[in-house]
Amino acid sequence: MTLIESVSLRRVLDSRGNATVEADVLTESGGFGRAAAPSGASTGEYEAIELPPRESIASARQHAVPRLVGEVYAGNQRDVDAALRAADGTDDFSEVGANSAVAISMAASKAAADVLGVPLFQHLGGTFRDATHAFPTPLGNVVGGGEHAKEATHIQEFLSAPVGAPSVSEAVFANAAVHAAVGDVLDERGVAAAKGDEGAWAPPIDDAEAFEVVEEATDRVEDDLGFEVRFGLDVAAAELWDADDEVYRYGDDERTPDEQVDYVEELVTEYDLAYVEDPFDEDAYDSFAELTDRVGDRTLVCGDDLFVTNVERLERGIEEGAANSILIKPNQIGTLTDAFDAVELAHRNGLDAVVSHRSGETEDTTIAHLAVATAAPFIKTGTVGGERTAKLNELIRIAEEAV
Ligand code: PGA
Ligand code: ZN
Repeated sequence: MTLIESVSLRRVLDSRGNATVEADVLTESGGFGRAAAPSGASTGEYEAIELPPRESIASARQHAVPRLVGEVYAGNQRDVDAALRAADGTDDFSEVGANSAVAISMAASKAAADVLGVPLFQHLGGTFRDATHAFPTPLGNVVGGGEHAKEATHIQEFLSAPVGAPSVSEAVFANAAVHAAVGDVLDERGVAAAKGDEGAWAPPIDDAEAFEVVEEATDRVEDDLGFEVRFGLDVAAAELWDADDEVYRYGDDERTPDEQVDYVEELVTEYDLAYVEDPFDEDAYDSFAELTDRVGDRTLVCGDDLFVTNVERLERGIEEGAANSILIKPNQIGTLTDAFDAVELAHRNGLDAVVSHRSGETEDTTIAHLAVATAAPFIKTGTVGGERTAKLNELIRIAEEAV
C-alpha cells in the first residue's frame, strides 16, 4: 500500500539564502510526503557529509532513487533508510550526501503517515507512544554569536528555558517574550544589535554582559508570566578550542581545559542553568565526564558536536559518563532510522535525547513531530523567524491534536 512510486528532488532556498535539497515522495496509493534538509554552520567534525546540493541530487537520482521506486514501502522506515545506506555505501553518506538522504528519509515518513491518515508524530512514535509524557519544552535561542554571527558573543547560544510553563503554547510564547525582553534590555543599555542566523540577538557585547542581559530578561518574563523561566547555553566550544595551544580562546582570553571545567561549573551554579550543550571540544570526552560528574544531577549536559547523533560516539560517551543527554539532529547522521537508534540507545542508558534544528533551516516541520514521537524533554528550534516559527507553531498544533 505504501510502495514508493516516485522520488523527486530539487534545490530550494534555506534561511541563509543557500540552496538545500528538498524531496517529494509519492506512494502507489497516492500518499505524499515532502521534506527538506537543514544545514549547519558550526558543524561537528564527525558529522555525515553534506554535498553541494546539485551534486547530492545527481548522485541520489543515480544511486538511491532506483533502489526505492517500486522496491520499498514508505511505511517501513527501516527499509527506506537501509536502501539509502546501501545506495551510498559509505559510513558518512559521502557518496549520496546526507542532505539528499535525510530529505528522502523524512519525506518517506511523511508519505507513509499520509497513507495511514495519521499525524507524523503518531506514525513515528507508534501506537504505544507515551502520550502521557509531557510535551517537549522549546529552548529558545535569544542571544548568540560564535559561528552564527560575527562580532557578537563567544558562547554560540543563550537559550531561554521556560521549564515551568503549563503548556507548550505558553512555553512558545514565553520564549518570544524573553526574546523581546532581551531587545528591551539591550535598548536600555544603548546596545544596538542585529540578529544571527537563528534569529537570536547578536549584540557586540562580551559573554559576561550577555549573562546579565539574559538573566534580566528571563527574570522579567518570569515575573510577568508567573512560572519558572530558566536559561541554558550552547557553548559550541569546538569552535573556541585551539588544538595547537590546547586552550579555549575567548578573543584575547584563554582557558585551559581544567579552567574551562571550573568556569562552566561556576556558570551552572551562578545562573542555575537548565541546560549546557557542548561546553568542551568534540574530542574532550574526559572534560565532559568531569563536568557531568560535578553538575549532572542539576542540569542537562548535552553532547551535540561530541556525539553527532552517532551511536558509536554515544556508546563511548556512555562508557565514559561523558554527558547525561544527546542532541538529535537527523541530518548529522543521514536518516530517521539512525536518529531513532541514537534516541533508543540514549534512553536505554538513562540519557535524555533533545531534538534540534540547524542554523540553516527551511519551513520543514519534521523535527516538531520527531520531538513529540520520542518524548524529548526539550526541542531546540529558535524563537523568531519563519523557519523557526514553522516548527513552534506545528508543536502548538500537535499539542492540540494529541490531547
Ligand atoms: P549549527 O548550530 O546548526 O550551525 O551546527 C546549531 C548547534 O550547534 O546546535
Ligand atoms: Zn550545538
